[in-house]
Amino acid sequence: MSHNVQAGWNPGVPSSVTALANPNIALIKYWGKADEELILPAAGSLSLTLNVYPTETQVKLMSELSNDEFFLNGTEQTPEASRGVHKVLGLIRELAGVETRARVVSKNSGPTAAGLASSASGYAALALAASAVYGLELSPKELSRLARRGSGSASRSIFSGLSIWHAGTDAESYAEPVLGSALDLAMTIAEVSKAKKAISSREAMRLTQETSPFYAAWITENALNLNEMLIALRANDFERVGELTEASFYRMTASMIGAMPAIRYFTAESVALLDLVRELRASGIPAYATMDAGPNVKVLSQAEHAPKVRQALATVIADDKLVSALPGLGARVEMVQYQAPTGAAPITLEF
Ligand code: PMV
Repeated sequence: MSHNVQAGWNPGVPSSVTALANPNIALIKYWGKADEELILPAAGSLSLTLNVYPTETQVKLMSELSNDEFFLNGTEQTPEASRGVHKVLGLIRELAGVETRARVVSKNSGPTAAGLASSASGYAALALAASAVYGLELSPKELSRLARRGSGSASRSIFSGLSIWHAGTDAESYAEPVLGSALDLAMTIAEVSKAKKAISSREAMRLTQETSPFYAAWITENALNLNEMLIALRANDFERVGELTEASFYRMTASMIGAMPAIRYFTAESVALLDLVRELRASGIPAYATMDAGPNVKVLSQAEHAPKVRQALATVIADDKLVSALPGLGARVEMVQYQAPTGAAPITLEF
C-alpha cells in the first residue's frame, strides 16, 4: 500500500472509492426468482469466481448533483440502463442516512452483457465501492446481499474462488465461500460472440417461469444437485463435480427451451464446442462444459489439463477467442481518495 497521509491526520469519510471485482461462472446455475424486486432466487447456486475480466468501479460523492450519474466504459448510461445502479445506491444511502448523490464510473475489461458475467463483477464492485464511500463498514455477507439487489449472480462475486448463494428470505439470501475442496479448478472460455444478448437474463428468467412446463422440475432438481455438488467438492471428486456442472447447465437450458417462445442462446458454433468437450472426455481428458445467457462456452477442468483443453478448443475456434482462467479474487478496494482539509490536493490511498 502506498499513501501520502501525514501521521495523526484523521481523514474522515472518503470522497471517492475505487473497487475491483471479477466475474463468476456458476457450476450449479441460478435461473428463476422467488421475488423479483428483492432478487431472491428460487433455488441456491454455486459458482467459481475467475481471475479474468475484472470490472473497475469508482464511486465519487458529488454534492452538486441532483441525480446519480452512471458511466460505463466511457459512455453515460440512460436512466433505463442505470436502474440497477440507482437502486443499489438508493439502498446504501438509506442505510447510511446520507442524501448526497454520486457519479459512478465503471470499466469492464471483458465483454458487457454477453453471458460472461459482467453484471456480476459490475454490481459486486459497485456494492463495495459505494458502501465504502458512503461510510458504511459492511461484512462480506452484507455486501453480498447488497450486490444481489443489482444482479443476483453478483452476490457470489464478493468472494474468491468457490461460493454458494443461498435461497431464502432477504436476510438469508447471501453468498459465502465454499471451503474444504482441494481441487485445482480451471476454466477455459470460448468467446463465441461478444455481442450483447438479444434477451436479458431478467426477461428470459421471467418468461421461463411463466411459460415453461419444465421450470418446476428444473428448480426441484437443481436444489438436489446443489447438495450433491457440495459433497463432490468436499470429496475432491472432479468427475462428479464435472457431471453435476454439465447437468445443471443442460437442465437450465432445457427449462429455457420449454418457454414460449423458446429462449435459445446457443449457436451452431456453441454446439460444435459442446461436441468437442464430449470428444475430449472420450479421449481421456476430464473436461465439462457450461454456458450462461449467451453463446459462449466455458470448459471446466483441473488446472493440469487446461493446456490440453485449450489446444483442443483451438481446433474449432480461433485461439485469440480463448481465455484461460483460474480461480480469482473476490471484490477488493483499489483506491480511496479523501478531500484535503485545506483545499490542497486530494489525499489518495492506493491498495
Ligand atoms: O444475475 P443475472 O441476472 O445476470 O443471472 C445470471 C444467470 C446465469 O448466468 C445464466 C446463471 C448463473 O447462476 O450465473
